[in-house]
Amino acid sequence: MISKTMQDALNAQINLEQYSAQLYLAMSAHCDSSSFKGFAHWLRVQAIEETAHAMKLIDFILDRNGKLELQPIGAPPKEFGGVIHVFEKTLDHEKGITGRINSLFELARAEKDHASEITLQWFVSEQVEEESSVGQIVDQLHAVGDQGGGIWYLDSKMGKRNRA
Ligand code: FEO
Repeated sequence: MISKTMQDALNAQINLEQYSAQLYLAMSAHCDSSSFKGFAHWLRVQAIEETAHAMKLIDFILDRNGKLELQPIGAPPKEFGGVIHVFEKTLDHEKGITGRINSLFELARAEKDHASEITLQWFVSEQVEEESSVGQIVDQLHAVGDQGGGIWYLDSKMGKRNRA
C-alpha cells in the first residue's frame, strides 16, 4: 500500500501532467492558427504524450491500492507570441517538470518506497529526453529566426514527428 504522503504527491503530479497536455494543446492551436501546421502537429503529439504520462501514474496508484484524487485542471494562457516564444516556454515548462520529478524521486527515497522510486526512474529518463528534444528545437529556431524560409523548413520537419 502506498503512503498518504506519496499518494498526495503523485496525485499532484498527475494534475501537472494533465495541465501540460492542456498547455501543449493550446500552443498547438495557436501555431495552427498561424498556419504552422508542423509545429502544431508536434505539440499535439506532445499533448498526447503528457496524457500518457498522467495515465502511467494513475495506473501506478491504482496498482498500489492507492486512491486516485483528480483535481480541476488549470486553464492555459490565451496568448503565446511567436513560434520561438512558444518553444522557449515549452523548454521552461519542461525544466519545471524535471524539478518536480526529481523532488518526487527524492521523496520516494526518503520514504524507502522502492516501487515508486523504480516507476519514477522512467520519468527521470523521460525528462532528459524531453529537455533535449525541445532544447534542440529552440536552438534551431534561434538559428533560422522567425522570418523567411528557414522556419517553414523547420515547420515541415516538425510535421513528421511520429505519434508515440
Ligand atoms: Fe510529462 Fe513533458 O513531461
